Amino acid sequence: MQSYKQNIDLSNLPRHIAIIMDGNGRWAKEKGEDRLYGHFHGVNSVRSVAEGASELGVEFLTLYAFSTENWDRPQEEVNGLMELLIQTIRKEVPVLNKNNIRLSVIGDLSMLPNDAQAEMEEALKETSKNIGLNLVLALSYSSRWELVNAVKKIAEDIESGKLKANDINQSVLESYLATSNIPDPELMIRTGGEHRISNFLLYQSAYTELYFTDLKWPDFDKEKLFEAICDFQNRERRFGKTGEQIKQNK
Ligand code: IPE
Ligand code: IPE
Ligand code: MG
Repeated sequence: MQSYKQNIDLSNLPRHIAIIMDGNGRWAKEKGEDRLYGHFHGVNSVRSVAEGASELGVEFLTLYAFSTENWDRPQEEVNGLMELLIQTIRKEVPVLNKNNIRLSVIGDLSMLPNDAQAEMEEALKETSKNIGLNLVLALSYSSRWELVNAVKKIAEDIESGKLKANDINQSVLESYLATSNIPDPELMIRTGGEHRISNFLLYQSAYTELYFTDLKWPDFDKEKLFEAICDFQNRERRFGKTGEQIKQNK
């Protein structure tokens, strides 16, 4: 079978792809297993997709791994996910290094159990010199958390005289977001069949192309990522302008 990879225009790659990895629980349920079985298998998809993005030369891949709201799931599932996080990081750091992938995190890490925080910090340090793909994990992340946090920091800087209200513009606001060093995603993929954003990169996705697939996350892999990129490359991004304007500039 021919790969979608051959149809990808490498000169028009998204610099940043963001993925809402949804459907693990339902995938497991279909197989008569418990939800954690689905999360466990989801790790293979993470590996495959990171490898695929890396092969192409995508600069940033942000994976929504755990939302602020996911803390409200049954304690057993939360504990299982944290345990899986720790084990996966421990196991995958050598693979990340082999592929020159740098790991970073956005989210409220202070909410994570201490051992998960420690493991995470170690992994960030151990991969910090890699210059290939930037793999960004959104962990205990939500856009509303991020925006409240940004507003707090801005207020503090105004109070201490470091910033003037009148000097605030879009780029100043962006510098207070968790994504301050990351370009906006050009493409956002959601697996699992739902058509919603679930509090993910709301500010940053103002002009992002959305791609929804019914495939559940454990069934997604790099070939499916290539297919999504091909779809993205056939779209006309207008950013509020007319189609004629966009064609003239080309
Ligand atoms: C996504 O899969 C993983 C996380 C949110 C942690 P789900 O666990 O949401 O799976 P479904 O949507 O219930 O099938
Ligand atoms: C979104 O999935 C969060 C992650 C993939 C980490 P959810 O399963 O939490 O989203 P909803 O509840 O269906 O909107
Ligand atoms: Mg879900």
